[in-house]
Amino acid sequence: MSDNVRPASMARINTPALALAFIDEQIAALRAQIGGKKVLLALSGGVDSSVVAALLIKAVGKQLVCVHVNHGLLRKGEPEQVVEVFRNQMQANLVYVDAVDRFLDKLAGVSDPETKRKIIGAEFIRVFEEEARKLEGIEFLAQGTIYPDIIESDGVKAHHNVGGLPDDLQFALVEPLKFLFKDEVRVVGKALGLPDGMVYRQPFPGPGLGVRCLGAITRDRLEAVRESDAILREEFAKNGLQGKVWQYFTIVPDFKSTGIKDGKRTYAWPVIIRAVNTVDAMTATVEDVPFALLQHVTQRITAEVPGVSRVLYDLTPKPSGTIEWE
Ligand code: XMP
Repeated sequence: MSDNVRPASMARINTPALALAFIDEQIAALRAQIGGKKVLLALSGGVDSSVVAALLIKAVGKQLVCVHVNHGLLRKGEPEQVVEVFRNQMQANLVYVDAVDRFLDKLAGVSDPETKRKIIGAEFIRVFEEEARKLEGIEFLAQGTIYPDIIESDGVKAHHNVGGLPDDLQFALVEPLKFLFKDEVRVVGKALGLPDGMVYRQPFPGPGLGVRCLGAITRDRLEAVRESDAILREEFAKNGLQGKVWQYFTIVPDFKSTGIKDGKRTYAWPVIIRAVNTVDAMTATVEDVPFALLQHVTQRITAEVPGVSRVLYDLTPKPSGTIEWE
């Protein structure tokens, strides 16, 4: 049997007790595999890499070195949460890399979506490689590969692994979640004591806000995406929609329209809200967000986000629109 087929005997992990049993089993297996050696992990703060980090902290403590690359395209509060949870609360060995200027300088003037994705992916590997070279004695690379990654892409997942490291920098892989489905990863994350905001996070693309700041990314429009997204998330949470709607976020296009603020004519950006439900992300329906909530979010975004004068709600299912705009 292939190493990449989930054993038929493996029970579905859907209770805290089953999660604790899985955690105990994995801790033993990780200790046996890693021994006294060091393990490296690219910790984005997403569900999968966070659960891998929490498991490895329990299994091998300071032998784990987590590298968190802040590329400037994360949501508001995310880099701070990674530092708070993993360094301050779990006492992890965490290297925090502020690479914001590096990424934004590389992306300056680039408007083609696929080129933007390629630049973000390649720069991420370069930053991670540089950090890996500074560390001594690393023998293992941990990854948050989960079972759908293996089924869907023969084990190669662009946004989860740091495949692409040069030949002289190859490590043995540690993939403790490779037989788990997403819902099981969440049950395990909860049992490991990770905060709900991390465990029940909505899907977030690898290139992050970079594909929601349409066209060539500018710092001011990127902040408009980040701030409007934070307002939308806050209002959805207050109104019981967090965890109910599959994915919701804002987009800022690269055109302006006229508006009025403080009695003066403005020429400012619109913010587009997208909120969708889906099972497999292949098709999606639009959430029927209460109109009063949309009006309230509009009022807050136009009042609180600099450079924004209008808010639009995207009514398009997938197909014909994709979930993201780029
Ligand atoms: P689309 O826009 O294709 O998105 O309907 C389907 C799902 O995939 C996510 N998505 C990405 N995830 N890297 C990722 O890791 C990407 O480049 C990317 N583009 C889209 C999207 O957020 C949605 O959940």
